[in-house]
Amino acid sequence: MMTETDRTRATKVDSMTPTKPRRRAMNKHSKKFQFDRVIRKIVQGLRQLYIPLSEYDTLDARFGSILEQRRADEADGVAFKARSIMLVGPSGSGKTTAVRHLKHNYRHAMATDPEKEICEFIDLQVPSPATMKFVGAATLRALGYPYSGNKQGPAIWDQVKEQLKLRRTLFLGFDEAQDLARYQTEKERQSVVNTLKSLMENSVWPVGLLLSGMPDLKKIVNQDAQLARRVDPIEFGRLHSLRDVERVLKVVQRYADRAQIDVAASVKNEAFAMRLMHAADYQFGLMAEIVVLTVSHALFTQGLEAKLSIRHFAEVYGERNGAEAWMNVFIADDYGRLDPRILLDDGEDSDDGEDA
Ligand SMILES: Nc1ncnc2c1ncn2[C@@H]1O[C@H](COP(=O)(O)OP(=O)(O)O)[C@@H](O)[C@H]1O
Ligand SMILES: [Mg+2]
Repeated sequence: MMTETDRTRATKVDSMTPTKPRRRAMNKHSKKFQFDRVIRKIVQGLRQLYIPLSEYDTLDARFGSILEQRRADEADGVAFKARSIMLVGPSGSGKTTAVRHLKHNYRHAMATDPEKEICEFIDLQVPSPATMKFVGAATLRALGYPYSGNKQGPAIWDQVKEQLKLRRTLFLGFDEAQDLARYQTEKERQSVVNTLKSLMENSVWPVGLLLSGMPDLKKIVNQDAQLARRVDPIEFGRLHSLRDVERVLKVVQRYADRAQIDVAASVKNEAFAMRLMHAADYQFGLMAEIVVLTVSHALFTQGLEAKLSIRHFAEVYGERNGAEAWMNVFIADDYGRLDPRILLDDGEDSDDGEDA
């Protein structure tokens, strides 16, 4: 909690600020607390906070049961039958983060360190262009195998299978797996499907897949009935502008609590929650990301004395998108006509790259 001196200091800063919104240019908020150690620590904590989703619980349960079955089969010396999971949802829904969280949560139940010889969970992002040769090479690299560029596709995949066995890999994760079907001919698509199946059906060392990607991924998997039968789909749903109001307000409160700052009435009502959902294009992950950015902004500009309000959201939105008031989802009366994707676009895709 805050000490009395903290409070006085912060109040002093606050008293220089008029009660009505400051009429400064949107992108000129002085970040007085940006280099404050305590504040930086809190902001790091906000970024690491994972908000549980029902989709995550489903993933956890499926993954856990597949792993358990595999361990039991292995103990009994029975031939394994790998099952796979596919996570599907629009960009920003939270797929990549969910897989990262899963891997973290299973770090005691399985060997997940790629630096070690035995690594039961290897994951990678599907490269572009996603030819079978490129994907095979990227998979080999993820397996830590020095890949020489002159092999043909099938030979690379043979090597992948060999490495998977040597490293006792049980799960292979492909993120952005919808790209496996992008710009491909029918024939190439079939060879993708066959390769995926051959990893799962390999009699020597079958491997379960964790495919995650945008909705087009479903088309690849469903193209082959045999494959589809062995893959459990989990869909990341969109936020619903009415049903999810309470849930969204709780997330805002949760981050504010974590930051130990107060929350103004302007961010505790249905109308605000609806604006926030629209700003995030109804994607849970993006919504959480906007809240993290905004609470961080409040902390950097006003310290622990900040009171989270819709003005902070408008400022962050404006700063990020260069949006003027009439096109700011948190200010405009008729924000429903604004396309959040156009405004969100900058940085979003590159974020994924950064994570890889
Ligand atoms: N459950 C969650 N709790 C908190 N933040 C989340 C959660 N899921 C996603 N995010 C945030 O949302 C952003 C987008 O999520 P991401 O996993 O990259 O989405 P996707 O892979 O579906 O495009 C990330 O910056 C991440 O920090
Ligand atoms: Mg992703």
